[in-house]
Amino acid sequence: MRYASITNRLANLGSGKWALHHRARKLKSEGVDIIELTIGEPDFPPDPALLEECMRSMTSGRHRYSNGRGEPAVLNAIADRYAKRRPDVTTANVMCFPGTQTALFAVMLGLTEPGDGVLVGDPLYATYDGVIQSTGAHRVTVPLDAANGFHMRAQDLEAAITPECRVLLLNTPHNPTGAVLTAQEIAEIGAVARKHDLWIVCDEVYEQLVFDAVFASPFDNPDLADRTIVVSSISKSHAAPGFRSGWAVGPAEFTNQLLPVSETMLFGVQPFIADMTAYALTHPLDTATVMTRTYKARASALIAALEGAEGLKPLPPQAGMFTLVDVSGTGLTGEEFAWKLLEEERVAVMPGASFGEYARNFVRISLTVPDDAIAQACRHMRALAQRLCTPNH
Ligand SMILES: Cc1ncc(COP(=O)(O)O)c(C=O)c1O
Repeated sequence: MRYASITNRLANLGSGKWALHHRARKLKSEGVDIIELTIGEPDFPPDPALLEECMRSMTSGRHRYSNGRGEPAVLNAIADRYAKRRPDVTTANVMCFPGTQTALFAVMLGLTEPGDGVLVGDPLYATYDGVIQSTGAHRVTVPLDAANGFHMRAQDLEAAITPECRVLLLNTPHNPTGAVLTAQEIAEIGAVARKHDLWIVCDEVYEQLVFDAVFASPFDNPDLADRTIVVSSISKSHAAPGFRSGWAVGPAEFTNQLLPVSETMLFGVQPFIADMTAYALTHPLDTATVMTRTYKARASALIAALEGAEGLKPLPPQAGMFTLVDVSGTGLTGEEFAWKLLEEERVAVMPGASFGEYARNFVRISLTVPDDAIAQACRHMRALAQRLCTPNH
């Protein structure tokens, strides 16, 4: 049978990236004791009040059809939250989606077509290639330099731009590097985006999980307001990824243009999830604060545990749920090191190459596991690195 080309464009995009994770899961299912530090899903439950609100809403009959933009209460809650950052924001700027992922997909569908270029930093979040290629657009890579903490530089963006480029896809705080762009960096990047008339789509799903840095966004910069669309969700901030509740916030003209796309795709999101999200955004819950404190402490413990380890250089994250470790000092790439670590030490970490060419010397370690698992994993990493750094090993 014949299928549309999108199925081929997206086929196998992810499979190689997750090979090590799948192998680790298989070993686990066979009874092998594996310390798994591959995926990043909050290891905290959502606040019980959110579950109660969801149940209350559902049992009160809030399970009927919604509309393409979102339920009034959650639209107001999202608009109020963003109006604190930019006072001109109203519900006309907001659209609800089932998670950041769907918001990214819909936004790209609204902005790009076959042949268009989407600029994105490398390393990049694992699903971005799929999101970009789904419309027939292609990725235009902006190299992110490890020596610069993987922060995007305006000159690297400028050098990468081709005439086909329509969109700059930013991610701050960044997965997998934990980099948080400064307001100055964003102003410089934004000036390039203005000069080349680019949309800026900014994935801010880790906004609430910043350690010591100061969060900044092109959305908050008045010079960039007319071209910036933020996508985010409660997946990380409220430890609620399975509820699939997110949004896009951008110019009113953009949301109006996108509305028929969203209506065609979704026919609205669930009212009881919308009520729970409105509750999450209007009540002072401490989930994000506790997670931020915990992940920051685990990152510090990991860095301390690898201190002085031959061949291993952790990169302190500024935010998020991961820490990258440069393993090139062992003579191996991140991919080679990660497979050896699994085979010889039974510790599963993600090869940096799963997140792009420019992370190939790194492995990514998830901080969403108990402290003692991280401590044990560090001992195994040290042991492997020491063997590798010993002549004639
Ligand atoms: C950078 C980034 N964007 C988007 C997502 C997906 O978020 P959501 O659950 O809101 O779809 C993730 C999840 O890990 C992520 O790391």
